[in-house]
Amino acid sequence: MLSSVVIFIIPFICLSVSNHLPSYLPRCYLDDPQRDECILRAFNKLRPNVANGIEEIGLPPLNPFVLPELILRQDTPNANFTIKVLNFTVAGLYKYDMKKFQYNPETKAFHFRIEYETIPITGDIEVSGHVASIPLSGKGFGRAVLGPVNATFDVKGNIKTSRGIDFYSTHNVKVDLDISDGSYYVEQLFNNNQTLVHLANEMLNANSVMVSEAVTPTLERLAEKGVKRFMKTLTRIPYYELFPLSR
Ligand SMILES: *[C@@H]1O[C@H](CO)[C@@H](O)[C@H](O)[C@H]1NC(C)=O
Ligand SMILES: *[C@@H]1O[C@H](CO)[C@@H](O)[C@H](O)[C@H]1NC(C)=O
Ligand SMILES: *[C@@H]1O[C@H](CO)[C@@H](O)[C@H](O)[C@H]1NC(C)=O
Ligand SMILES: *[C@@H]1O[C@H](CO)[C@@H](O)[C@H](O)[C@H]1NC(C)=O
Repeated sequence: MLSSVVIFIIPFICLSVSNHLPSYLPRCYLDDPQRDECILRAFNKLRPNVANGIEEIGLPPLNPFVLPELILRQDTPNANFTIKVLNFTVAGLYKYDMKKFQYNPETKAFHFRIEYETIPITGDIEVSGHVASIPLSGKGFGRAVLGPVNATFDVKGNIKTSRGIDFYSTHNVKVDLDISDGSYYVEQLFNNNQTLVHLANEMLNANSVMVSEAVTPTLERLAEKGVKRFMKTLTRIPYYELFPLSR
């Protein structure tokens, strides 16, 4: 499928990592045969901390996760739109259920899968284009509740050594989202023409599975950007501090 997705995020969020990992972060040893299970358990146990963000590893607060300004452009046969979102707010990102975690120390590849029951997103929007043949234009407010969502992450990288210290260096992040359905709601678009707003909402929800599928590429690229940014901060921590050896 010919497709293009362009994303601008303003301003650049930048967190710094501290020298010490918080004590509540579990230690999963690189050479532990149960390493992946250890990390999977730890990840699901960390939900309350993740909600407030973990500054020491560069994780922003996820309850909610807010981007002040965002421009998304998708040009695919089933969705062709540009949307500017102010106060892009994603609630409940910390309500994840990690189902699978694999790290291959040989290839330095991460593979994990997370399930969400729902992901509510809101924002002040300025949109033009169409999604699943439903025209959308104008300025207003938008809300989407996506779910259930099945998210698969593949992260590739290698080890880089700087001043004698090993660091993980991320090369590629791929996110696959399986968004089963969603509910959609817009306000004030079409110069606040109530007839057209009402019609758009009806069409969005009558075709919610198609709409969810149509916007998936944009959400995948957005998630990849988020993970890349997080990895960039996380991997300022030396590799053997993230993955200590048992002895
Ligand atoms: C998307 O819209 C733009 C501008 O309206 C148009 O130039 C482009 O051909 C469209 N792409 C598709 C795949 O329909
Ligand atoms: C941003 O959106 C959230 C959720 O809809 C809302 O509670 C908050 O007041 C908004 N903030 C601004 C500055 O509009
Ligand atoms: C999520 O994806 C996995 C692997 O592709 C699959 O086995 C599982 O049934 C999916 N779960 C849901 C809720 O779609
Ligand atoms: C709303 O839009 C429809 C379709 O374009 C138009 O027929 C109608 O007059 C508009 N209503 C108002 C109040 O502008």
